[in-house]
Amino acid sequence: MIIVLDYGSQYTQLIARRIRELQVYSVILPYNAPIKPQDYPQLRGIILSGGPASVYGDQGLAMNADCLELEVPILGICYGAQLLASTFAGQVEQAHEREFGRAVCTIVDDTDLFQDITQKQLTVWMSHGDKITKLPEGFTAIGTSENSPYAAIRHAERRLFGVQFHPEVHHTTAGTKILTNFVHRICGCAPNWTSASFIENTITDIQRQVGSEKVLCAVSGGVDSTVMAVLLNRAVGKQATAIFVDNGLLRQGEAEEVRHWLGEELGVNLEFVDARERFWQALAGVVNPEEKRKIIGHTFIDVFAASAERLGGATFLAQGTLYPDLIESVSHVGPSATIKSHHNVGGLPEQLPFKLIEPLKELFKDEVRAVGKGLGISSRWLQRHPFPGPGLAVRVLGEVTPQRLELLQQADAIFIDELHKADLYHKVWQALAVLLPVKSVGVMGDSRTYENVVALRAVTSTDGMTADWAELPGEFLASVSTRIINEVAGVNRVVYDISSKPPSTIEWE
Ligand code: XMP
Repeated sequence: MIIVLDYGSQYTQLIARRIRELQVYSVILPYNAPIKPQDYPQLRGIILSGGPASVYGDQGLAMNADCLELEVPILGICYGAQLLASTFAGQVEQAHEREFGRAVCTIVDDTDLFQDITQKQLTVWMSHGDKITKLPEGFTAIGTSENSPYAAIRHAERRLFGVQFHPEVHHTTAGTKILTNFVHRICGCAPNWTSASFIENTITDIQRQVGSEKVLCAVSGGVDSTVMAVLLNRAVGKQATAIFVDNGLLRQGEAEEVRHWLGEELGVNLEFVDARERFWQALAGVVNPEEKRKIIGHTFIDVFAASAERLGGATFLAQGTLYPDLIESVSHVGPSATIKSHHNVGGLPEQLPFKLIEPLKELFKDEVRAVGKGLGISSRWLQRHPFPGPGLAVRVLGEVTPQRLELLQQADAIFIDELHKADLYHKVWQALAVLLPVKSVGVMGDSRTYENVVALRAVTSTDGMTADWAELPGEFLASVSTRIINEVAGVNRVVYDISSKPPSTIEWE
């Protein structure tokens, strides 16, 4: 195991992720967390992250004293490297030439950290305004850059390493090799951490944490909450109950599918709550998107809390929060944390009387999918497009009624079905249908119609933050349009959304 100490870098989580990609378990701790050997018997090395502070300023964050006593290898990255230098009485000063972005690091010693790297000149990613100007005693330079003779340093006996650049970002050539050398060779970690071992460890952790108490969680049918519910089920069986609220705003057949997949196939102890009428009533007459979202959020909390009370006696609430849900730019565990307010499944408020368990909070989406696969969840379920918490309510523009929801469900199901058939579903990031609050004139048979318009939207994206409209083949769109107009009573026109995000958003509301 490798501990990553967080000094506030925007890349802290990325470092931990890269280590896991090298199949070594890694966790992030705040820079000043106590690290006692008895608490971490598997610990083989420590990485000090970068950070925005200066080691010499008032806001400099101190070296973790425990980590020096442990005698495991340490790799300091950027701020971490400067911290090592200043701790051992070297000198760090503000650089005349600040280095941001691409730079070149010349390897001058390739015996350990730079072992087996064929190029001697590495393109590396720098992001710092300070530099090491005097090497501490016992240290040697193993890499130089144009602006610094100490771009990479080492204390051979104590196995301390520092790099001014960021090996964890893709822009750094041989970054993975550098991390491999540190983790596998210098620290001696065997590459045996996989999603299977994550599952095993997480299950043990949950068992330890929960003991004989009861746990509740909310499931939406989405990837994160599904993976979490299955993990809980494996860990504590019937002590865990997953509450699934059918809010009447789901896609066609979705509530039954969740019941089948989670309850029957995966054996999750599912409490199915049919709250459709309640949500529909709460939404009656509401057209403002923000108001819809608020009503749905509050109604969800009320329904969830009532179910929790009915079930009674739970001490813990598990949430399928992921790393990107929590983080804006700096790590959530560090001192300088900025925690983005996030709306997980229905946005459960923190004042609910439960202790929280968030077993996925260090993971990225693709890692969660890998864990899901390891738990035996079908890939069709794991690879589904994202779906917003407020569901189809934000895709039925204007008033949400059961009739309009059903109409949209039918159109959406046809679109998704056709995407699967044409092998296009996985080529887009998200696809959806929207029911517009206008009617248009058409002609069907020999008569004039005055019916609804459905908009189709498909986007390419990597994270949903920005997106482009997907250039689906005209022929494909034509066949979807024909099917929708023929099969969905009440629709006589289909349009395709060709806006990118920004300035538009993916959802229409
Ligand atoms: P926008 O519309 O903001 O959507 O471009 C970006 C991504 O987020 C999803 N989305 C939500 N997900 N609760 C969620 O869990 C919400 O309230 C919510 N609103 C939007 C949207 O589907 C897209 O994938």
